[in-house]
Amino acid sequence: MSNKVIIKGYGDNLEINGVKIGNLSPLDHEKIEKEKGGQNYKPLENVVVSHVQDSSTLICRKPDKNGIKKFIEEELVDGLCCYSAVNQGQLNQDIVDAVVHHLNKEKLPTVPRSIRHKYMSAFLLATTTFTEMDRVVPKVAGVESWELTFKTCRRWGYEIKKIPKNKCIIVGATGNFHGRSVAAVSMSDDPDARENFGPFVPGIELVPYNDLEALEKLFIEKGDYIAAYSVEPIQGEAGVIVPDDSYWPEVRKLCDKHNILLAFDEVQTGFGRTGQNFAWQLFGVKPDIMGCGKAAGGGILPVSFVAGRDDVIGVLSPGSEGSTFGGYPLASVVGTYAIKVLVDNNLAENAAIRGNQLLSHFEELKNEFPDKIKEVRGKGLLTAFEMFDDPKLDGHHVSLSLLEKGVYAKETHKTTIRIAPALTIEAWQIDNIAEAIYGVIKSI
Ligand SMILES: Cc1ncc(COP(=O)(O)O)c(C=O)c1O
Repeated sequence: MSNKVIIKGYGDNLEINGVKIGNLSPLDHEKIEKEKGGQNYKPLENVVVSHVQDSSTLICRKPDKNGIKKFIEEELVDGLCCYSAVNQGQLNQDIVDAVVHHLNKEKLPTVPRSIRHKYMSAFLLATTTFTEMDRVVPKVAGVESWELTFKTCRRWGYEIKKIPKNKCIIVGATGNFHGRSVAAVSMSDDPDARENFGPFVPGIELVPYNDLEALEKLFIEKGDYIAAYSVEPIQGEAGVIVPDDSYWPEVRKLCDKHNILLAFDEVQTGFGRTGQNFAWQLFGVKPDIMGCGKAAGGGILPVSFVAGRDDVIGVLSPGSEGSTFGGYPLASVVGTYAIKVLVDNNLAENAAIRGNQLLSHFEELKNEFPDKIKEVRGKGLLTAFEMFDDPKLDGHHVSLSLLEKGVYAKETHKTTIRIAPALTIEAWQIDNIAEAIYGVIKSI
């Protein structure tokens, strides 16, 4: 077999060795992915996303039921917005304009951090102001921001708290999700994420989420060795688990009492998602350090960063951290504009308003189907409804039925459906999503 690759064209005319992307049916795409890709995802069946219609609507391709065409195209309301990476809406025009302008007109270079570039100053000024933190360190993927908070907390533990060498403990919460690196799965308690990936990173202990007593017990027992409680302010992947109102204020007190850092993972909850710029603002409890990602890249580029207090981030020294693409000029521009769009358009406020609208639809759903809907949860536009554990109420089946009705949503675990659309979403679109959900639940 020849290894010569001939690539030409754009969009549907993009051609790889004579295979034209626009000529592939949904089944062809599935076949290629099954044959050539790692099988670490199980995407929704019979649907392929093609392009953007508007900030909350995608155009997808589905099999032609008449079997005449390769595919038919339909609108799909984006109820997931790339797991909260597209808070600013798909192809946000201001961010796209900034990217195109800087690439074409400003001749944006690509350089690493070993030489200063002028856009880093814009990024640092914007991110420190927006997060209300002293210092920021750029990274790329969400998991990297969490991993850097983990490393920074360990170093702070040794250098500032004076924990004996190699004895440092970072505490996490059960049901956590911080990504897929070895350190992140070492903290995970999800068997699927861990199976045969050991040995795991030592020095991690878990407490049940939202259980103050368990945390206090651990702090009393091992507090001298604990550098940080590293945790999501609201657990997203676990199914939008919102702790009791008193939890974070009490955790903050406990952390202060035992000289333990509070490290928030705001990768999913940040950037307006919960109705405030950051979830810590909902609870009035500021962490000492936090990881941000996803919408930090405006839905265009992977951009993440760690923000924190001067004395915490201050433990990092030259050579201790770095990332080729973390904060490179294009990421700095996109990261800056991701914030500008959020602030200029009051997107956190819109998330709060539209989130309340969606949650009241969910409440109505629960009242109408008390035998099917167990609980509805959410803050801002990070929302979910949980069904009872019953074979008929299968989350995957609900996702597929919603797809039929033109709504993209995906179950987390078996019985919970998370709805987290773009923060630009309009009232009528929320009503449409709710109507589709109502129709599906009624039909089960
Ligand atoms: C809370 C949280 N942290 C970290 C991550 C990992 O982000 P990424 O997939 O960009 O590495 C996620 C992703 O869903 C997340 O929800």
